[in-house]
Amino acid sequence: MNLNEYKKKAAWAALNYIHPGTVIGIGTGSTVFYFIEALSTIKNIISGAVSSSNASTVLLIKNGIKVLNLKKFDQLEVYVDSADEINNNMQMIKGGGAALTKEKIIAAMSKKFICIIDKSKKVEFLGSFPLPIEIIPIAFSYISKEIIKIGGTPKLRKNVVTDNGNIIIDIYNLNIKNPISMEKKINSLPGVVTVGLFAERGADIVLVGDKKGVKILKK
Ligand code: A5P
Repeated sequence: MNLNEYKKKAAWAALNYIHPGTVIGIGTGSTVFYFIEALSTIKNIISGAVSSSNASTVLLIKNGIKVLNLKKFDQLEVYVDSADEINNNMQMIKGGGAALTKEKIIAAMSKKFICIIDKSKKVEFLGSFPLPIEIIPIAFSYISKEIIKIGGTPKLRKNVVTDNGNIIIDIYNLNIKNPISMEKKINSLPGVVTVGLFAERGADIVLVGDKKGVKILKK
């Protein structure tokens, strides 16, 4: 099983959802890397891209795609990103690449979220992948204590400072029975900037790359 090949297939299939003259929201990670390569082949027909991370910005520029300032937009037609896990309701765990805050902002402002994954990301229940949260550094001890209270095991992601100057806690062993209420509960802790549960605003279309090709899942 070559997961990179599956990622690539899903990424190239996302080109079918890109319309001329639009600004494309761009996620972060190795699957998105393939999407940026694919997008560069039609760069002259799009208006540009807004990026969810410094890492993706570098790749976009390298591929000759115009990067526009996120600040200037309040809505986008389409956002293309991957996920660390996705369930049958198209709810996701994201943030493995530490870019969850901008990813969530762009997801919220986009009419369509196209999630591109290799088949290993599809799960029945979210939570085997440790749930990332971006937090303000001084809240580390308090938030860790609160996470333990809800049954999770918090671990500081070492040597990581986010694009926003914050830190990441990865939560292990969390029983996520109801992703929307868990998202709300963790979001409500003072000091949490963003929780990597994308449950309330999930994906609209999922492109799953596998051996045979690309499966399209819709709501
Ligand atoms: C980035 O912060 C994440 O939300 C990514 O979407 C996720 O980690 C998927 O990454 P890969 O495409 O590298 O698997």
